[in-house]
Amino acid sequence: MRKLPPVILALLLQLAAFLLVTFSVRLFALVLSPFIFAMTCGVLATAFSHLAKQARWWLPIQLLFVPALVITLNTNIPPVVFLLAFLLMLLLYWSTFRTQVPLYLSSNKVWQALETQLPVDQPFDFIDLGSGIGGVLTHLSRTHPQGTFHGVETAPLPFAWSWLRIKLGGYRNCHVYWRSLWDCDLARYDVAFAYLSPVPMAALWEKVQNEMKPDSLFISNTFSVADHQPHRILKTDDLHHSELYVWRK
Ligand SMILES: C[S@@+](CC[C@H](N)C(=O)[O-])C[C@H]1O[C@@H](n2cnc3c(N)ncnc32)[C@H](O)[C@@H]1O
Repeated sequence: MRKLPPVILALLLQLAAFLLVTFSVRLFALVLSPFIFAMTCGVLATAFSHLAKQARWWLPIQLLFVPALVITLNTNIPPVVFLLAFLLMLLLYWSTFRTQVPLYLSSNKVWQALETQLPVDQPFDFIDLGSGIGGVLTHLSRTHPQGTFHGVETAPLPFAWSWLRIKLGGYRNCHVYWRSLWDCDLARYDVAFAYLSPVPMAALWEKVQNEMKPDSLFISNTFSVADHQPHRILKTDDLHHSELYVWRK
């Protein structure tokens, strides 16, 4: 069960709670209002999630999920609104339920800190692993015109946005690819940048160690790698006080 993505586990536990409450209602011929039924499902799902050792922030979601469904079903929102919202979320977040790396953006202060780590007087190749809407790439391609900037992104909407941004903005030294970072060979890059989440960092570290060439840089925004001290830490004074962890191979 631990191997399941947390969102799938949460959904299975909701289903288990729903089936248990439905079965009990039938067995004991109980009469529950829809709201009490929903709350009972919520309380049980919360208890199951607690027992399954899900992260604490899942508990309020589990508690309120079915009650929120019941309340929403009682409003007159046309079903197409939910379909459109679902499609938007799907295009924006794509496989986040599995990767546990959602879309959020590096700040301008992080872009500026990154600038200071790039070579100034020679050509180089830079890759943003999970390039979102392309802000890092387009910013750095302006400040370092001698570099070539690559991005890989799996979520369709951010990819399309960054592709258009690059084409319409005339950034000739920028390229984005609709591809998973796990399918990229890092051997050709002098600098690899990532702003992901704690989940993939150990595997990404392995990939960096196996593929990146000597003297190349691996820079991670916010998420460090357990048991591997970075060579340098750059602190920024943005909203989250983001830190950049820099490793030289
Ligand atoms: C936190 S955002 C960072 C965006 C951008 N790099 C920045 O710093 O502003 C992480 C991005 O990585 C993308 N992503 C997650 N897993 C990925 C994978 N396996 N391959 C490529 N992109 C991925 C997500 O869709 C998301 O857009």
